[in-house]
Amino acid sequence: NLKKIKFMKKKRAFITGITGQDGSYLADFLLKKNYEVFGMVRRSSTFSTKRIDHLIESKKIRFDYGDLTDTSCINNLLRNIKPNEIYNLAAQSHVKVSFELPDYTAEVDSLGVIKLLNAIKEICPNSKYYQASTSELFGGEKKTVPQSEKTSFNPKSPYATAKLYAYWIVKNYRDAYKLFACNGILFNHESPRRGNTFVTKKITRGVSNIEKKKQEFITIGNLDAVRDWGYAKEYVEGMWRMLQLKKPLDLVISTGKATSVRKFIELSFQHIGKKIIWKGHGVNEKGYCKKTNKMFVKVSDKYFRPNEVQYLCGNSKLAKKKIGWTPKTNIKELVRIMMDYDLKYDDYGEDLT
Ligand code: NAP
Ligand code: GDD
Repeated sequence: NLKKIKFMKKKRAFITGITGQDGSYLADFLLKKNYEVFGMVRRSSTFSTKRIDHLIESKKIRFDYGDLTDTSCINNLLRNIKPNEIYNLAAQSHVKVSFELPDYTAEVDSLGVIKLLNAIKEICPNSKYYQASTSELFGGEKKTVPQSEKTSFNPKSPYATAKLYAYWIVKNYRDAYKLFACNGILFNHESPRRGNTFVTKKITRGVSNIEKKKQEFITIGNLDAVRDWGYAKEYVEGMWRMLQLKKPLDLVISTGKATSVRKFIELSFQHIGKKIIWKGHGVNEKGYCKKTNKMFVKVSDKYFRPNEVQYLCGNSKLAKKKIGWTPKTNIKELVRIMMDYDLKYDDYGEDLT
C-alpha cells in the first residue's frame, strides 16, 4: 500500500519527440528524478524507438502512438495522461530539409505548438509547458555574437521561421491565458545519439568509418560555418530546471564557445592520430592526410543551404543566474565522447551513452 501511495505521488511528464536525441536523454533524466514518463511516438513501418528501447524493454515508460499534426490525438493524450509537465521536443528538426519540406515543417513546428497550447488551455491549464526553441531564430550574423535573450531575431530558413511562430505563440499564450510556458532557446547540442545527417555525427561517424576502412572520405558542405556545440545530455537538465522555476521565463542555453565545421573535422581526425592539411578553395577545397597525402574530406555544393546561418555563439549568463545551469563538456571532450562511441559501435543501439 505504501508503495502504491508513493507511486501515485510521482510527477507525470509527457514528452513529444521522445524517440529523438533530446527526448531520449530527457526520458532517462526524468526517470532518475522519479517521474512517471509518458511519450508520444509516431507510427512508422519500422520501429523508430532505437534510442529508447532500453526504457521500453524494462517497461519504465509508457508510450502512445501520436502525431503533432493531429488535434484529436493531442487532446486525447492530455485528457488521459493529465501531465504535470509537458516537454514539446517533436519537430521536423533538420534545417536543410525544411527548404525541401516547408509546408510540413510549418505544420509540425508552428501549428503543432498551437494545437498543444490550446489543448493545455482547455484540458490541463496548470500543466507546465517547455517549448524546444532554437538559436536558429537569431540568424547567425557575426555582428550579433554572442547571442542572448536580448538579441533580435532574423530567421533564415523555413525551419527557423516556423520555430519563430512557435516562440511567439508560447509567449502570447503565457501572457493572455497565464499558462506556465517557457521557451528554451537552445544552441546546437550533440551526442552519440545525434541523428546521422547532422554535421557533427556525420563527421564522427565518417572519421570512424575511415579508421575502420569502411569509407574512403567524407563529403561535406560549408566548412566555415561556426556553431556553439554543447553536450545534449547536459542540455536536457536545463529544460527540466526551467520548468522548476516559480515564474515562466525564456532562457538561452549554450556553452559560449564557437567552433567551425573545419575545426570539428580536424579534432575528429586528431582523435585517430591523423592531421588534416587543406588545399584548394570553395567547392574545390579538399582535406588530405598530412602523412600519406590521402584525400579524406571533399566539399560538395549538395550540402550547402539556400541561405546559411554562418555564426552562432550564445551567452547563457541568464540561465546560470536563474536556474543555476552551466555547461560542463567542452568541444574536445564532446568530440572524444562521440568518436569513442562511433569507433566502438557501427550505429547507436547497444550502449546508449
Ligand atoms: P530529433 O533527434 O530530430 O528528434 C525529433 C523528434 O520529433 C523525433 O522523436 C521525431 O520522431 C519527432 N517528430 C517529428 N515530427 C513529428 C510529428 N509530426 N509528430 C510527432 N513527433 C514528430 O531532434 P532533437 O535534436 O532531439 O531536437 C529536439 C527538439 O529541439 C526539436 O524540436 C529541435 O527542433 C529542437 N532543437 C534542437 C537543437 C539541437 O541542437 N539538437 C537545438 C535547438 C532546438 P521520429 O523519431 O519518428 O522521427
Ligand atoms: N547537416 C549538415 N551536413 N550540415 C553541414 C554539412 C553537412 O554535410 N556541411 C556543413 N554543414 C554546416 C551547415 O551548413 C550548418 O551551418 C552547420 O554545418 C550545422 O549544421 P547541422 O548539424 O545540420 O545543424 P544546424 O545548425 O543547421 O541545426 C541544428 O541546430 C539548431 C540549433 O542551432 C538542428 O539541431 C536544429 O534543429 C537546431 O534548431
